[in-house]
Amino acid sequence: MRISDTFGRPLKNLRISVTDRCNLRCQYCMPEEEYIWLSRGDILQFEEISALVDIFADLGADKVRLTGGEPLLRRNLPDLVRLIAKKPAIRDIAMTTNGVLLAEHAPALKAAGLHRVTVSLDTLRPERFAKLTRRPTHAQVIKGLLAVPQAGFTDTKVDTVVIRGVNDDELADLIEFCKPLPAEVRFIEYMDVGGATKWTMDSVVSRAEILKALERRYGRVEPVIEERSAPADRYRLPDGTVFGIISSTTAPFCSRCDRSRLTADGIWYLCLYALQGTDLRGPLRRGTSADELKALITGRWRARTDRGAEERLRNRHRSPLVRISELKKDPHLEMHTRGG
Ligand code: GTP
Ligand code: 5AD
Ligand code: SF4
Repeated sequence: MRISDTFGRPLKNLRISVTDRCNLRCQYCMPEEEYIWLSRGDILQFEEISALVDIFADLGADKVRLTGGEPLLRRNLPDLVRLIAKKPAIRDIAMTTNGVLLAEHAPALKAAGLHRVTVSLDTLRPERFAKLTRRPTHAQVIKGLLAVPQAGFTDTKVDTVVIRGVNDDELADLIEFCKPLPAEVRFIEYMDVGGATKWTMDSVVSRAEILKALERRYGRVEPVIEERSAPADRYRLPDGTVFGIISSTTAPFCSRCDRSRLTADGIWYLCLYALQGTDLRGPLRRGTSADELKALITGRWRARTDRGAEERLRNRHRSPLVRISELKKDPHLEMHTRGG
């Protein structure tokens, strides 16, 4: 069965956060000193995640992305990949990682059936990385990224959140670094999501500015004409290199958004900006039947009106979505719990 929301958007793309823990502290995502973590007993077992994926797949989901926190902090992750990869309805299973632990895990993930890897990398400079992430592990990330094609993965992407005065002078360097791997760089506008408590509009480098900077360096940058490319708009340099821009802050893709996200403790959110989610862990653990869970999910999706990023756009005086005091009360509001 295929289901659509109030704007006719299908349920297709399921992002599954497998842990809220992270081994970096990027300033756009986890800038605080202390965090409240999800309770261990609430974290879904792989079999529980797999059962939920089956239900979502029956309702039309055909893409799964594993996220975190940092997904590679979850022990035995290839076991989960194996469970999901063997479901015929799931035609794409990918992972977004910060790369720190990737060199050691890439071969096992490939063998388990993972299709694609996206590595978050904001800078090529170790000192800058240490400042941005408050951890000294830049070399490990580079090693991790190099291990991806070596393990046999293709369609690799690198996600770079561009922040004014932090890394906006490295756009071309990142493109050049990723060319031979090969990996496609996507520049992401800094978003005012939950957890980004240091966000200001001034620090956002817009798509228009990114394009202007790259045109200065490379000459003409052509848009790639294609049917569906959300979340990234893709562009081609004169030498054929393609890169993407995810302009969620200045030009969101809500009207085409087929995403929802499951937190590691089984709360299902229909939008990155949603303040409330639907508890699926409770019903699942109480033995609710698959049909009843399907009815619950169907009801919520059909009533979905979320256009979080577009609504943010209407705020004249934009400031971070959630205050720290609120984040401390509900860690589910954090981007690192939602998995981006
Ligand atoms: P593919 O399209 O399958 O390659 O995956 P993806 O691009 O969705 O995955 P990735 O985790 O690399 O997402 C890239 C970035 O897009 C995220 O880190 C977020 O910054 C942003 N993003 C992801 N989902 C959403 C969403 O639902 N809404 C908005 N506004 N931004 C999102
Ligand atoms: N703005 C934009 N992207 C963010 N991410 C996390 N926080 C933000 C933010 N405030 C995304 C980055 C990172 C991924 C895990 O989550 O793309 O690579
Ligand atoms: Fe950085 Fe991702 Fe960890 Fe956030 S969850 S601190 S963006 S690596």
